[in-house]
Amino acid sequence: MCGIIGYIGFECEKNLYEGLKKLEYRGYDSSGMTTNRDGKFNTYKSIGRVENLSNKIIFNNKNGIGIAHTRWATHGNVTLQNAHPHFSEDEKIAIVHNGIIENYIDLKEKLISQGVKFYGESDTEVIAKHFKKDISLEKFKSVIDKLKGTYAILAISCNSDKIFFAKNKSPLYIALDKETVMFSSDISCFFGKFDKFYTLEDGEYGFADKNSIIFYKNSKKISKQCNEIKSKLCISSKGRFKHFMLKEIFESKKVGNNILKYIQTSKVTKLINDILKNDIEKIYLIGCGSAYNAGLIGKRFFRLYGYDADCILASEFEHENIFINNKTLCIFISQSGETYDTLKVLDLCKTKGGICLGITNVEYSTLSQKSDYLLSLNAGVEKAVASTKAYLAQVVMCCLLAIKMKYLSYDNYILDNKNYDIYKRFGKEYYNLDINLNESNLKEIAEFISCFKYVFYIGKGVDYDIALEGSLKLKEISYIFSLALPCLELKHGTLALIDENTVTIAICSEQNLIDKIISSSQEIKARGGKVILLTICDIEEQYNKNFDRIIKVSSSGKLNFLNIIISLQKIAYYVATIKCNNPDMPKNLAKSVTVE
Ligand code: M6R
Repeated sequence: MCGIIGYIGFECEKNLYEGLKKLEYRGYDSSGMTTNRDGKFNTYKSIGRVENLSNKIIFNNKNGIGIAHTRWATHGNVTLQNAHPHFSEDEKIAIVHNGIIENYIDLKEKLISQGVKFYGESDTEVIAKHFKKDISLEKFKSVIDKLKGTYAILAISCNSDKIFFAKNKSPLYIALDKETVMFSSDISCFFGKFDKFYTLEDGEYGFADKNSIIFYKNSKKISKQCNEIKSKLCISSKGRFKHFMLKEIFESKKVGNNILKYIQTSKVTKLINDILKNDIEKIYLIGCGSAYNAGLIGKRFFRLYGYDADCILASEFEHENIFINNKTLCIFISQSGETYDTLKVLDLCKTKGGICLGITNVEYSTLSQKSDYLLSLNAGVEKAVASTKAYLAQVVMCCLLAIKMKYLSYDNYILDNKNYDIYKRFGKEYYNLDINLNESNLKEIAEFISCFKYVFYIGKGVDYDIALEGSLKLKEISYIFSLALPCLELKHGTLALIDENTVTIAICSEQNLIDKIISSSQEIKARGGKVILLTICDIEEQYNKNFDRIIKVSSSGKLNFLNIIISLQKIAYYVATIKCNNPDMPKNLAKSVTVE
């Protein structure tokens, strides 16, 4: 993961620091900055949040050159030594890098055998140790050519006024305006400062000074088109909320409404009609983490409407021997649009002729740019690492897409009453989202759960998909061990773990499944486990004794499970806060996973 920034211009330290704050979602194990002031490097590093760096930096208004980095540790512990920038032996060259150098051990051994000394364990240090005194384009290119793996690299020398850059598989963008140049891992750093930017493609490299950027590919100079920044400056604040996560949960209703309007626009109708011209025979939904969990629900809807659909974890895709051709619709779901594993499958599907549709929340992301078709989630910036409003948006988008595809499938297709009804009345009926539901009950449940070391989630059908997401949410921000499984699977193994030290959250959004949930909970209770029922269904009083707590959630209409999703997100949030964790920035994680 990691985020990198480079800057040439006035108030260099200030601009680098502000950029780092914006890129902190990419990793917050440590951060660092090196600026060149009158031929001398000034370096600042700190462990943890970027704000820890602020009181170390000596800010300077004058023109300067610098690079900076916020780290999500891959190689080497979280130490100041492993924090970027990294340096050549003579400390005249500084490097920041996002990605993973796969052959760094071989390269390091070679350098060690030549007498080069290393101070840390980072793969990036190996790049830096190839340099001495100064950087020429030839030398830079020869070092890049030795690297195997993924990288966005920025390099400066204390003897020059240039920033050298190279990109392979990790994102890198450059903006230039009035003697100011900025490099960044995403374009949010350019908002309000620049109108145009360049997107670097894999294999491109070059250098920039305050007046120009020179691009190369395959040893030849190339010219590049720049893109306009259309988005307004978008600043996200917590408002009245203590954490971004809670604020973002509360934004879900608006986000869902926007998707409902968006899916009915002529733009989306045209997009779907274009896709349908390809006589789609198979649909794959592809994503990681919460995006995958959203795809699981989407898959059910595509199947419900007659499509042959599957949902595959991006990181497992290559092992599934999946057949793809020009009648295969590959739907890539990603909040950030930068998830490495997802983008890797996108490249693979493109080479096989698949039709690639991106569903993402970030307009200028790599996924947006590489997809054949794009559906924007328009959920607004999601800052908290735990995906909430974006996950919900992905679920709603996938379900509505399935319905709309069915609706537009045939020229003279007349939908049967049931389907047509759903499409026509969705606006009124599906979105009865109750954001304020059961607040005190949910807090009480969170208090109860926070005392346990093991939390299980069970459900059946779509409720199992929701259980998976509820469990992921809890573990990522509360650090409590959690596992989700289909309720009838308990007796095939996991029941062995159930005792008085466990609590299970049973989910039921369909009346015809309540019996199965009741019998599963009886099995758990018989082993001393505690059970909390989260349901929109009616339950006969005689069965109340099978549960330690029952939370009745109001139905959210046709997508009646949405209020349950929100309840689970809130439970996870409250457990995290009870345990004094920062739910916005959970340990060991980052918002955007740009490494394999
Ligand atoms: O940006 P993406 O949607 O591609 O991210 C995928 C996962 O990394 C992400 O959903 C992750 O699982 C969340 N932190 C879960 O809350």
